[in-house]
Amino acid sequence: MGHTELAYKTSFDEFEVVSIVAEPTLNYNLFEAELENSQAKQIKIFNKLEQSLQFYNGESFRNQVHFQLANQTPVQRWFPYREGYSLKLVNAFIKELKIKGNTFDPFSGSGTTLLASRIADLNSFGIDVNPISVLVAKVENEQYASKDVIQVEVELKKLKDIEKSKEIFQTSFDLAEKVFNQEILQALLQFKQHIKAIQHEKTKMVLFVAWLSIIEDVSNIKKEGNGIKYKNRKRTPNGYINIEKERWENEKFPDNKFSFVKTNFSNRLEMILSDLKFNYGKCDKKPNIYKGSCLEFDKYFSDEIELTFFSPPYCNCFDYFEIHKIELWLGEFVSEKEEFRKLRNTGFRSNTNSLNHKLIIYRNEYLENLISLFEPQKLWNNNIPNVVRGYFDDMYTLLNKLYRQTTKNGYIGIVVGNSAYSGVIIPTDSLIAEIAREIGFKVKSIFVTRHLTTSSQQKQGLEYLKNYLRESIVLLER
Ligand SMILES: C[S@@+](CC[C@H](N)C(=O)[O-])C[C@H]1O[C@@H](n2cnc3c(N)ncnc32)[C@H](O)[C@@H]1O
Repeated sequence: MGHTELAYKTSFDEFEVVSIVAEPTLNYNLFEAELENSQAKQIKIFNKLEQSLQFYNGESFRNQVHFQLANQTPVQRWFPYREGYSLKLVNAFIKELKIKGNTFDPFSGSGTTLLASRIADLNSFGIDVNPISVLVAKVENEQYASKDVIQVEVELKKLKDIEKSKEIFQTSFDLAEKVFNQEILQALLQFKQHIKAIQHEKTKMVLFVAWLSIIEDVSNIKKEGNGIKYKNRKRTPNGYINIEKERWENEKFPDNKFSFVKTNFSNRLEMILSDLKFNYGKCDKKPNIYKGSCLEFDKYFSDEIELTFFSPPYCNCFDYFEIHKIELWLGEFVSEKEEFRKLRNTGFRSNTNSLNHKLIIYRNEYLENLISLFEPQKLWNNNIPNVVRGYFDDMYTLLNKLYRQTTKNGYIGIVVGNSAYSGVIIPTDSLIAEIAREIGFKVKSIFVTRHLTTSSQQKQGLEYLKNYLRESIVLLER
């Protein structure tokens, strides 16, 4: 695979066992009086929940559980899918576990698990509710013959010759005027129209992904934290200030806005083309990618799976539709508010917008004990207890279905981060391990890859519990 560094150096045997237990627990009785009641109670719950779990120092995966590496990796870099992990990470698990059978990613996102499987010559399956993810995963996992690559090259040349049109282009996205400089918006819409007219389907989709991937760079917003932020809103020691939109745009963007968008677009396409020329698309196995909910994956395929490797939404109220809102509207994946609302409802119950009226069937004692420690007046939304319950209810459904379709001695690898609400930590990694064990899986190991930070309001209250705010890889065996 040319210039991707896929070598994996650390064997699982080399990982060192670590104790996650927060320090005061060691002298629990001594500290109990000093600890706030809630923290003492949480530590008791965690101790019981985690007493038979094996934690390993997984710091060598630290840089692989997020998108930083992916941004420089051929093919993966075509679309900046911030929530993705690195190809190297999946590759490590495929190799170490000696996977020969099918693989699956129930939250396939930009398709990293599928790409790694393809490179390893494995059959793979992926599913995602977000139409942008499905498109990106499909385009990145398409097979491109030399004649397809030539077509992309032809389109790149044509693109460079496009002149600014006099036509006024329309969009159904009501925030467009706010999110974009007017001329930049017109340029984007003109290029979209140009792409729609391309006959050759694979080329059209490659250009569409390139176009989608530049939207954030040429817009007035950036994806940050839990949502999108206006770039002209700046933090100062005295709070936030809004720089007037027009003034900010004039300072930020060059005079010739059309050419600015065109250069961004053609540079992105040039980078894709250079990856295509290295024959990244030539692996034989083409993944099966579906648009739908992972809770219904068994409706799409019934093949047995040897390795399911994924990163679900974390139980932290991050909304994947909100973060991709601009691309969803401008790319015409949605055209009405009701459609957008419905789409949000199809997501895993990890945020307040995804709460449909589904009943919560699965109950977990540890979880209920933790939820009972929430301080309602400190929660920013009354629905948070139900988000948390809904999350583990969905996780239970998914793991149950996975159990049924996983081969004997097959594996599940889950990259997940813990979260905190009103000073109470939700240890998603060990709760998932607990649920999996109830279902019948063996919990092989939990690799702690890094510790997470939280909002400054919560930080103080979590002083003794900060070890539990971690991102881990949970490894299960059927
Ligand atoms: C952490 S991201 C996965 C990123 C992926 N591992 C990658 O490397 O690109 C989680 C994904 O879950 C998807 N998702 C949320 N709810 C879902 C559901 N019910 N079924 C399937 N996918 C869902 C989101 O759209 C998002 O793409």
